[in-house]
Amino acid sequence: MTETRPKQGKSVFIRTYGCQMNVYDSERMAGLLKPLGYGLADAPEAADLVILNTCHIREKAAEKVYSELGRLKRMKANKALQGGDMKIAVAGCVAQAEGAEITARAPQVDMVVGPQAYHRLPELLARAARDDGDILETDFAVDEKFDRLAEREAEGPTAFLTIQEGCDKFCTFCVVPYTRGAEVSRNIDAIVAEARALAAQGVKEITLLGQNVNAWRSTPPAGEAGDEWGLGELCRHLAKIDGLERIRFTTSHPRDMDDGLIAAFGEEKKLMPYLHLPVQAGADRVLKAMNRGHTTEHYVGLIEKIRAARPDIAISGDFIVGFPGETASDFEETLVLAKAIGYASAFSFKYSRRPGTPGAVMAKQVAETEKDERLARLQALLEAQRQDFNSRQIGKALPVLFEKPGRHEGQLIGRSPYLQSVHVSAPQSMLGSIAPVKIKGVTPNALAGVLAKQGEAAA
Ligand code: 5AD
Ligand code: SF4
Repeated sequence: MTETRPKQGKSVFIRTYGCQMNVYDSERMAGLLKPLGYGLADAPEAADLVILNTCHIREKAAEKVYSELGRLKRMKANKALQGGDMKIAVAGCVAQAEGAEITARAPQVDMVVGPQAYHRLPELLARAARDDGDILETDFAVDEKFDRLAEREAEGPTAFLTIQEGCDKFCTFCVVPYTRGAEVSRNIDAIVAEARALAAQGVKEITLLGQNVNAWRSTPPAGEAGDEWGLGELCRHLAKIDGLERIRFTTSHPRDMDDGLIAAFGEEKKLMPYLHLPVQAGADRVLKAMNRGHTTEHYVGLIEKIRAARPDIAISGDFIVGFPGETASDFEETLVLAKAIGYASAFSFKYSRRPGTPGAVMAKQVAETEKDERLARLQALLEAQRQDFNSRQIGKALPVLFEKPGRHEGQLIGRSPYLQSVHVSAPQSMLGSIAPVKIKGVTPNALAGVLAKQGEAAA
C-alpha cells in the first residue's frame, strides 16, 4: 500500500482570466494539486507555484498575460536571490493558442498547459522540478481530462459544472474553435455523479457550463427513455437530485435552442428563469459575415417562444460592435434589436481582431473611434434596460439563495432567480439557504430587500 500523505507547506496561486469555464478549470486545478501538498496562496509573492489561467478571446485579455508575466519574472528573480524558487505555469486559452511562443517570449515560464491537458499538471510539475527544459502540453484529450480529475470539494452553495466544451460554429470573429477545439459533450454519468457529489456537500445551485452548452447531446442513461437527450432532458434529470434547488446553464447558441429545452423552462421549476443567449449584432448582413448561421428574425422568434413558455424569463446577451463591414445603419439595427428584446443584462464589446480568424483579414475594418462611439451608445441603452429590469423587481417577493456575508455586519448577499445580487439583513445561519425576500430598492449593481414570510416568493 502506498501512502499519499501530503508534503507540507507548498502553495499555489492561481490567477483566473476570462469566462466561467476558466473559473471552473482553476478550481479543478487547485483540487488536482491539493493531494500533492499545495494549499492556496493569497498572493503570488508567497507562492511556490503561480498559474495564470488565461483568456484569448480579445486582444486586451491576451495582452494582460504578458504584462503579468513581466511582474512574475521580477518576483521569481527576487525569490531566487533569497534562495527560494517559484515555478510559473501558463494555462488556458493563451497557452493553447500561443504555445511555444510564450516560452520564447517569456523564458521565466516553466510550463505551458492547454485547457484540455491540465490534468497532467502533476507530471509537468515533476518534470519542471527536474528542469526538463520548456514544457509544453497542449493536446486535446477532454474525456481523459475529466476521468483524471480528483473528486470535487464544494466551496459554498453554488458551483459550476462543465458539461460541454469546444465549438464547431466558427463565427468569423472568434478564437474559441481553435483554442478549445471541436464540440465535445461530457459523459452523462460523470455529470450526474459530479452533480450528486456537489449536492451531497450542500450545493443548492449548479451552473452547467459549455462554450455551446445547449449543443450538449447524449444517449439517455441506463433505464431512461428516449433516443437522444439534449440539455432540456439533462436539466430535468438533474432536477431530481435531492438538495439541488436551482439549475442554470451558460452559454447558449441560438442555433441549438431546441423545443425540448424551451419547454423545460416552462415546466421545470428548478430551471432558473434566466437565459444568456448571445446575438452579437442586429443586422442580417453582419450576422451573415459573422457566420452566425441565423437571422435576427430567427432570434426574435426564439425569444418570443421562450417568453411564451416562461413569461418572466430574464434575457441576457453578448454584442460585438464594429465588426468588419458594419456600417452606421447596420449598427442602428443592433440598437433596434436590443430595444425589441429588452435585456435584463448584457455584455458588449468592441470587435477585436484575432490572428488566425477570418474576421482579422476581412476588408473594411472599422476605425477604433467609430467602435468607441458605437459601444458607448449600445452600452447606454443596455445599462438603461438593466436598471429598468432591476427597478421592476421592487415590491416583489423573490426567492433568494444566500451565498456570502455582506460588507456590513448582519448582512448577507444572495441571488435572485434572475441572477441579480440581493443585499439583505439576515442571520449568518441563513447562508446556503433559499428564502423569500421582499425587494425594497435598487442600487447600481444590486437589489436591496428584507426577509419576507415563507410562501411569499413569487418566482
Ligand atoms: N472581439 C470582440 N468580442 C468578441 N467575442 C468573441 N470574440 C470576440 C472578438 N474577436 C465576444 C462575443 C462572445 C463573447 C464571449 O465574447 O460577444 O459571445
Ligand atoms: Fe465563438 Fe461563435 Fe463558437 Fe461562441 S459560437 S464560441 S462566439 S465561434
